[in-house]
Parts: sequence; C-alpha cells; structure tokens
Amino acid sequence: MKIGVYPGSFDPFTVGHLDVLKNAAPLFDKLYVAVLYNAGKSATFSVDDRVDMINRVIEHEHLENVHSGRFDGLLVDYASKVGAEFIIRGLRATSDFEYEFQIDAVNRHLNSKVKTVYFMASPAHSFLSSSNVKEICCYDGNIEGLVPQYNKERICERLIRQ
Ligand code: PNS
Repeated sequence: MKIGVYPGSFDPFTVGHLDVLKNAAPLFDKLYVAVLYNAGKSATFSVDDRVDMINRVIEHEHLENVHSGRFDGLLVDYASKVGAEFIIRGLRATSDFEYEFQIDAVNRHLNSKVKTVYFMASPAHSFLSSSNVKEICCYDGNIEGLVPQYNKERICERLIRQ
C-alpha cells in the first residue's frame, strides 16, 4: 500500500494547500494531512481547530483516501508510525527551495527510507501563505478565494476576535 504524509502547520489551511492535496491524493492509497503541534511553536489556531478545518476539507472535497492527523516531534517518526514512505510538500517560489532543501537534508539524515515529493503551486497561488491570510483578515480585508469557502467564516471569526 502506498502511503503518504502531507505535513505542515496549516495555520490555517489555504486553497494553496488544497491544490497540493488534490494533486497528491490520487497518487496514494492513503494520504495523511498531518498538523504539527508543538508547545514551542505558537500557532494562531489550536491544533483541534486546524484538524477540524482539514476534516471539513476532506469531507467537502470527497477525498476518500485522505485522513487528518497531528504530530509532535520528528516528522520522519510520524511517517514511520503511519507506515508512510513519502512526504508531500508544496513549492511556491525559489524562496521556498532553500527551506525545503534544508528540511529534506535533515529528514534524509534521520531516515533515508522516507522520500519527499514536491508539488509546484499553481501560479494563481504563488503569493499565498497562511500568514498572508491572517494579515488580510486582521485588517478586515477579504479572504474570499484564499481559503476553502466553508472554513472562511470560522477563520475570520477567530482573527477578528484577536
Ligand atoms: O507548514 P510548515 O510550517 O512549513 O511545515 C514545517 C514542518 C511541519 C514540515 C516541519 O517544521 C517539521 O517537519 N517539523 C517537525 C520536526 C522535524 O521533523 N524536524 C526535522 C526536519 S526540519
């Protein structure tokens, strides 16, 4: 069985993440979207909120082979735990490359059996990040089309309360 892990902070999950997920899902028998929760790394949305919003994505997009997960600790350990041989990451611009190159080198050092597969972001999403979404929302801008429609209200509510 071919199993993959699509890890990230997903704080929050954007349409850019969705694009990567939709491209990756058909290539695997099972794909885990794994949310990093880490006491040392502060997030805007709680891990429960992030997982819940991802579950809504899975349901709305009918991604039957996709499951949500959460992990704390090393990504390669989580991958081994769920039996995944592949890690999925999205790449937007060359600026992502440096960061991804380093993560890949560390992961290879830790477990060379786990391979990372990259998906290029569509040009329409090359500017998009979770941080952009949060900033736009905080200044009362419109995040329509930047996050899955069914999660939009929940994201705005949380950010406007800040
Ligand atoms: O969405 P992000 O924040 O760019 O995702 C980064 C993530 C979660 C993939 C990375 O921080 C990670 O894998 N963290 C877990 C700790 C780990 O395994 N570190 C070794 C590789 S740097």
